[in-house]
Amino acid sequence: MKKIIVNGGRKLQGDLTVSGSKNAALPIIFACILTNGVSEIDNLPDIGDVRAALALLSSFGAKIERRGSLTFIDTRELSYIDPDVSLTSKIRASTYLLGSCLSRFGRCPMLIFGGCNFSYRPIDMHIDACLALGAHIDGDVITADRLKGNVISFRCPSVGATVNSILLAASAEGETLLRGCAVEPHIDALIDFLNSCGASIIRQGREIRICGRELHGGKITVIGDYIEAGSYIALGLMCGSVRVKNAPLSHMSAVLDCFSTLGATFSFEDNFISAHLSSKNFLSLTTAPYPAFPTDLQPIFAPLMAVISGGEIIDTVWRERFGYLDSLSHFGILSHREDNRARIFRSKIHSGKTVAPDLRGGMACLMTALAAEGQSEIDSLEIILRGYENLEKKLRTLGAEIKIQDT
Ligand code: UD1
Repeated sequence: MKKIIVNGGRKLQGDLTVSGSKNAALPIIFACILTNGVSEIDNLPDIGDVRAALALLSSFGAKIERRGSLTFIDTRELSYIDPDVSLTSKIRASTYLLGSCLSRFGRCPMLIFGGCNFSYRPIDMHIDACLALGAHIDGDVITADRLKGNVISFRCPSVGATVNSILLAASAEGETLLRGCAVEPHIDALIDFLNSCGASIIRQGREIRICGRELHGGKITVIGDYIEAGSYIALGLMCGSVRVKNAPLSHMSAVLDCFSTLGATFSFEDNFISAHLSSKNFLSLTTAPYPAFPTDLQPIFAPLMAVISGGEIIDTVWRERFGYLDSLSHFGILSHREDNRARIFRSKIHSGKTVAPDLRGGMACLMTALAAEGQSEIDSLEIILRGYENLEKKLRTLGAEIKIQDT
């Protein structure tokens, strides 16, 4: 394991470029399992979750080559092998094996799926989608001799269940209609990739219509990561002056609105955005499926609220996603939690020691450590590196005094 030691309180200043989106890259990687050919993916981020996903594909026989910003994935000779639980338990996106393995190999074990444990994360809608398209549960394995299109209505928008249903239907027999889908930009990115592989997928609002097709290799450039962009804009507001390049601003309306309510004003130059505080206001934010404020950014806003004027977070997607507040308390951040709401009080932050509680909660701790005077330590840095590319290099570019040590 690694820990990061931070000498905080320094003014951070400089430019950063946003990397490819983790949540777009992972469905695209698993979608390659459906295809028979070579796919070319540009801007795939080099992060822990992507490495684990690529290792799972390699275990099925995919040949993977990274050349500059391009990644080539050759899936012409795949064969089924039980997925390695030491990999599937690391990443939440291993749930996408349900759709991709059932489509390609006709089977998938009910694995121990991993990822952040900020809440109980059900997969009943994923399983229901498999069954609706003709799969059967056979002990602890799901099998399907053939998948056949159907109509599926989700009771609430789920990114994971929408992705899995698209993967199941893209090469199934006949037509599938998905209703009540998640419409995050990463859903459109998956659709664009599969259409480049010969799929026939059309999204209109929360409805997605899919005609099953045989799929060949495809081509896509991974969109910029709006969660990473939001994290660095927040860091700039806490610690100095950070210009963020290639932020996908069209995906960030709700996030930018919340920064503005806190008192931020923005400057735009070429492909850069930077934010400056021109007033200090209380913010109440509510997470909900896209296009509303993303649940992944609520932990990032908590330390920002604490150093500005305090605020309130209501999470309607993951009602229990507040465990990270215990970690932030080691840095002096005061909060009060009730049901799916947390009140964040204006707090005097100080240096501290903690373990990264989960990916975004870990980043929230790191941002606080960078803003607080003195030496802080955050253990289990790997958890943060699951989702932030070149974190060490990017922070050093801004002038952060950090040291990474093996523990
Ligand atoms: C969610 C976020 C996603 C974020 C990720 C990690 C939404 C819509 N999705 O995606 O943007 O990147 O967390 O933080 O904001 N649910 C069920 N049964 C299921 C699947 C989901 O009841 O089978 C419920 C969940 O309890 C949750 C909601 O649906 O309340 C959204 O879950 P889902 O979108 O599937 O979660 P992720 O795909 O992990």
